[in-house]
Amino acid sequence: MSIKNVRLEVMQAIEPQVDGFMKDFLMPIEKIWQPTDFLPDSQSDKFFDDVEQLRGEAKELGYDFWVTLVADTITEEALPTYESWLMDVEGIDQHSGKENGWSKWVRAWTAEENRHGDVLNKYLYLSGRVNMREIEITTQHLIADGFDIGTDRDPYKNFVYTSFQELATNISHKRVGKLAKQKGNTLLAKMCNIIAGDEMRHHLAYREFVKTIMGQDPDGMVLAFADMMKKKIVMPAHFLRESGESIGEAFEHFSSCAQRLGVYTAQDYVDILKKLNDYWDLGNLRGLSDQAEKARVYLMKLPERLQRISERMQFSQEQRAFKWVEANGML
Ligand SMILES: [Fe+2]
Ligand SMILES: [Fe+2]
Repeated sequence: MSIKNVRLEVMQAIEPQVDGFMKDFLMPIEKIWQPTDFLPDSQSDKFFDDVEQLRGEAKELGYDFWVTLVADTITEEALPTYESWLMDVEGIDQHSGKENGWSKWVRAWTAEENRHGDVLNKYLYLSGRVNMREIEITTQHLIADGFDIGTDRDPYKNFVYTSFQELATNISHKRVGKLAKQKGNTLLAKMCNIIAGDEMRHHLAYREFVKTIMGQDPDGMVLAFADMMKKKIVMPAHFLRESGESIGEAFEHFSSCAQRLGVYTAQDYVDILKKLNDYWDLGNLRGLSDQAEKARVYLMKLPERLQRISERMQFSQEQRAFKWVEANGML
């Protein structure tokens, strides 16, 4: 049987379990937080006072912080790219006639994710510290440019990617929240933490998908995991650009900002990989084909190898002027 058909069979075999995954890892719509819970209420008489307080607190935050928050927001705002990508993955079929659990999952996941860009965008708009028009242009560019994460339509590779990426966003939102709190900005800290909580649930779900697949097709899953790590997990916003720039030009500069701030670092990449190796129990996996066994050994050794590389890695200390944020003399 071809790889494609095996994948399809495995996805179909697991499909009846997806409803249970949704119950375990997503929240009922009527119960989950909404952006309005954290933002000044525009129907309230206190609205202008609350906005004034929000703007006052925002003045304490530095340049690298704003650049990172803007890029995080734009990454969330490019959700149409992610939903359309996932809907096209092998086995996630929204056209099958009967309700397919996988496509239901993708829609419900998207619906939760959609609140992240929503709350952050409104916060940025009210803060008065950023150039919203430039941010909007970048967002439009990013959605138009799409992404290429090297997963193709392969569900195994896509779920490795999302397992990794959801944890990466959990880490970065959590750290941004911590920095905001240190500067006395409790409202923004709360927003970032609540988003980080969503990302964690999503991470736990995707890593469960992979574990379940591992039970059905360990050879295929280990090979797909190794293939993704060989290519490296690229960030979903790796095509980020500002107005007038060419594709991807802003991304590296933003990454340096995030590294400098300690919001998302090469060390985090290594730590995430270690956690995935542990959860998927690669250390104890036996009975693989020769090829998959080689891939397993590669994955087991990879964290140590990447650790050595990350210790030698240099990132730019040079401050770049972004169009999204006016310099405010604070780093
Ligand atoms: Fe998100
Ligand atoms: Fe996410």
